[in-house]
Amino acid sequence: MRILFIGDVVGSLGRETLYENLPKLKEKYAPQIIIVNGENSASGKGITEKIYREFLKNGVHAITMGNHVWDNREIFDFIDDAKYLVRPENLPQGTPGKGVQFLKYNQFEIAVVNLIGKTFMNPCEDPFQHADRIIKEVSKRTSYIIVDFHAEATSEKQAMGWYLDGKVSAVLGTHTHIQTADNRILPKGTAMITDVGMTGPYDSVIGMDKDIILKRFTTYLPQKFEVTTIGRAVLSGVIIDINEKTGLANKIERILINDDQPFVF
Ligand SMILES: [Fe+2]
Repeated sequence: MRILFIGDVVGSLGRETLYENLPKLKEKYAPQIIIVNGENSASGKGITEKIYREFLKNGVHAITMGNHVWDNREIFDFIDDAKYLVRPENLPQGTPGKGVQFLKYNQFEIAVVNLIGKTFMNPCEDPFQHADRIIKEVSKRTSYIIVDFHAEATSEKQAMGWYLDGKVSAVLGTHTHIQTADNRILPKGTAMITDVGMTGPYDSVIGMDKDIILKRFTTYLPQKFEVTTIGRAVLSGVIIDINEKTGLANKIERILINDDQPFVF
């Protein structure tokens, strides 16, 4: 079974880049399941119902979120009906939405889990304890489990990979927007990457207008961050091959498309 996971889609340029590249990626890799992190898809902050539906219409099967999940308040109007939207699982009980969703492919069920990190992030429930509980529960139903671990610290993301090695199909880091080159299969069979990277403006600082960010760094004066909406783009993702007998991974390959690394069939 083959899964395509696309890293943090940022703003309109991110969405356009995703829709433009998806047909080529489908043709080249023929994934059965496509998952996208969409927490920055509405102007860098959160998601709207229109964008959620647009993702599904373009062939995405599940949309994961992160620390920006509530930034566009429209989410409260549709999250209860958004079957394929997965918000961080380790939030207090009673939080709207859900942190795991099961997808179907032939006779298989694939669980998509979203967790958020506790290091250099806003307060959340402990991701490791929650991972324990949710993975135990989900494993009763399926051994195909994809975890999007949305976290800031490289160390915490790596630690989560080791923590879940052999228990899930993949631990995919998101949030820091720059793809890391450490994609690997851990010894007990879990695919892992510290950060999948982002999909959106290439000539930016992690998706934001670079001139504004430069002003902030050089003057220390407060600035209103804006997402870059025009110009060159980057697409970042990974392809994971899962052993259909065990639910563990055979292979994880990075996808990075930009002007410096053009797409090749
Ligand atoms: Fe994030």
